[in-house]
Amino acid sequence: MEISLFSFFSVILLSSYPFSISATPSNLDQLCNLLGASYISPQLCHSIMDSDPRSFTADLNGLGIIASNIAARNATMIAADIQLLLLNSSSSDINREKVLKTCLKLYTDVVPMLNSAAKSIKVKNYSGAETMLNVATKVPANCDNAAIEETSLWSLLNHYDAGFTYVVYVAHAIAAYIERYAGN
Ligand SMILES: *[C@@H]1O[C@H](CO)[C@@H](O)[C@H](O)[C@H]1NC(C)=O
Ligand SMILES: *[C@@H]1O[C@H](CO)[C@@H](O)[C@H](O)[C@H]1NC(C)=O
Repeated sequence: MEISLFSFFSVILLSSYPFSISATPSNLDQLCNLLGASYISPQLCHSIMDSDPRSFTADLNGLGIIASNIAARNATMIAADIQLLLLNSSSSDINREKVLKTCLKLYTDVVPMLNSAAKSIKVKNYSGAETMLNVATKVPANCDNAAIEETSLWSLLNHYDAGFTYVVYVAHAIAAYIERYAGN
């Protein structure tokens, strides 16, 4: 099993070789190709990281900071949207209001945590960053669970939860990668 997996990856490496001959791959390309976890494809990594132009010139440490910054911005925007939903929802619907407040708190509280994760990466405290990002990965499921009995809200909130899941998993995987292969 291990041998066949190994040759599987060798085939992929060999077959992708001609494409990297002409240009030196950027740190971002290398990182996205190496993250390798089954749940993060290079395409997903790029779809998140390419949204910040600093990614194209950053070093590995910088990419970790950018990924956490992207996640913090994403959570900030989600919290703002949930705040609007709360303002526009009728206060007589107590359950709806309760769910929205729970998710608002989750997405509001995770922002400073993601900002500290970025600061920890800056000072090369990768294990500290990884711990905080790991906690942040729980936010979407916690919001989803809070909403589970409010059918109309659930699909709306799940849309935000699904988007944030991608962003925070990429940030977490990058911090974990840096810790493992380039860390202290
Ligand atoms: C790294 O960050 C964690 C979490 O904030 C903290 O508990 C720990 O003391 C930090 N380690 C260092 C060496 O600063
Ligand atoms: C959060 O990021 C995801 C993935 O890039 C994106 O699809 C989504 O639109 C973002 N959410 C907000 C509110 O910006």
